[in-house]
Amino acid sequence: MNAGTLSNSKIVSRYRDRTPGSAERSRAARSIFPSGIVHDSRRFLPHPIYVERALGSRKWDVDGNEYVDYHGGHGALILGHCDQRVTRAAQRQLELGTHPAACHDLEVRWGTLVKELVPCAERVRFTSSGTEANLMALRLARACTGKKKLVRLKGHFHGWQDHAAFGVDDHFDGSAAPGLLEEIAGNVLLASSDDVGGTRALLESRDDVAAVMLEPTGGSFGVLPITVELVHMLRQVTAERGIVLIFDEVVTGFRVARGGAQAYYGITPDLATFAKILAGGLPGGAVTGPEAILERLDFEAAESKGFEKIGHQGTYNANPVCAATGIACLERVASEDVCERANRNGAELRAALNEVLAEERVPWAVYGQHSGFYFFLNPGGLDVDPRSFDPLEAGFEALKQGGKHPAAQKLRLAMSIGGVDISGKPGGLTSAVHTAADIAHTAEALRESIRMLRAEGEL
Ligand SMILES: Cc1ncc(COP(=O)(O)O)c(C=O)c1O
Repeated sequence: MNAGTLSNSKIVSRYRDRTPGSAERSRAARSIFPSGIVHDSRRFLPHPIYVERALGSRKWDVDGNEYVDYHGGHGALILGHCDQRVTRAAQRQLELGTHPAACHDLEVRWGTLVKELVPCAERVRFTSSGTEANLMALRLARACTGKKKLVRLKGHFHGWQDHAAFGVDDHFDGSAAPGLLEEIAGNVLLASSDDVGGTRALLESRDDVAAVMLEPTGGSFGVLPITVELVHMLRQVTAERGIVLIFDEVVTGFRVARGGAQAYYGITPDLATFAKILAGGLPGGAVTGPEAILERLDFEAAESKGFEKIGHQGTYNANPVCAATGIACLERVASEDVCERANRNGAELRAALNEVLAEERVPWAVYGQHSGFYFFLNPGGLDVDPRSFDPLEAGFEALKQGGKHPAAQKLRLAMSIGGVDISGKPGGLTSAVHTAADIAHTAEALRESIRMLRAEGEL
């Protein structure tokens, strides 16, 4: 959306009128942070909202506006905001110390829970983020295989580290994004998730592949869906060829099922990485896998087997506050129907939104699996029936356009005016604590948004 569309839009002026406090803070932030933000996904024109507090499925901005929240802490908050057990666990540990610089009971309990829940987790190593966990997974794979190449799927996100920071939203030809070395990009091969045969052929044609890394339910948690057939093929071919299969379960872990996508599919990868829900809404990551791979981090194994160990530090690995919130969250995931409720809310929300689209005769659709939902804004002007839309038929280009579609920004603004905060995909995630009232409210906000968009000729 450019400045011209902004200045002429009633939607934009209504948004500005509701959010003067956020506008003021955003102006100030621009003199501190590039673009005034600290995470690319927070870019929002004319300015993002500034949030003061949050509880359950809701959050409130500095101007007192209430929103149903579908960001869910970038996927970390399957229990919603300020879950009591998670909050108390953090408070308790804050009083006992934030950093003993020593081993502690909480890291052992946290790791035990991960082992119990995740099928491939014979051994666990904690990191501070999903980005770091993926870096370590790749390093382990290269150390074990002695091979260089990483095969990734176009559009799949694995954090902002050098091996993964291209071919997600751009640089689909595999070229290095600014600041990355061509030598690093040159060791990454990008495959297409909609080309099972081509991806198989790529893996079968080479002897230098250390690892295949993917988001197991599709890029950006299913914005780009994949078929189970592809995941089965990857498991089979990597096993045959001694390639390390890495599931990036940073979003899917403890969300699509207690044991993540691997439990949902019944397909066990060699390595899996986690973050987000893992630490209950505080920073934390982990790489998990068999002893035969994780032993590359083990002093005794290196000594007895005569290999050089991979070094690994990290000031905040398994920090006790994050471990405490992680335990509180994972204990609820393990013992309650948390994942089931989040998934059910996702299905009910998608159905409610598609009902509105159908009733209002809008040729869009809301798709997604599990607890994800995404608006398909139909860039190619297809004949779309929202109730039966199959995203796999829409193709990579159209699905990837998502947030770049001209109507996407105004849809988000209109939903925000209606008290619903969706992400830039546009879409979001449901938690276990979204309610039927939240879903009904969101459906009504969509109906009103459609009216606003029609009045501006966007539909
Ligand atoms: C699938 C996936 N992998 C990795 C990451 C990076 O995790 P972090 O932001 O904790 O570094 C993300 C973050 O959104 C993600 O969605």
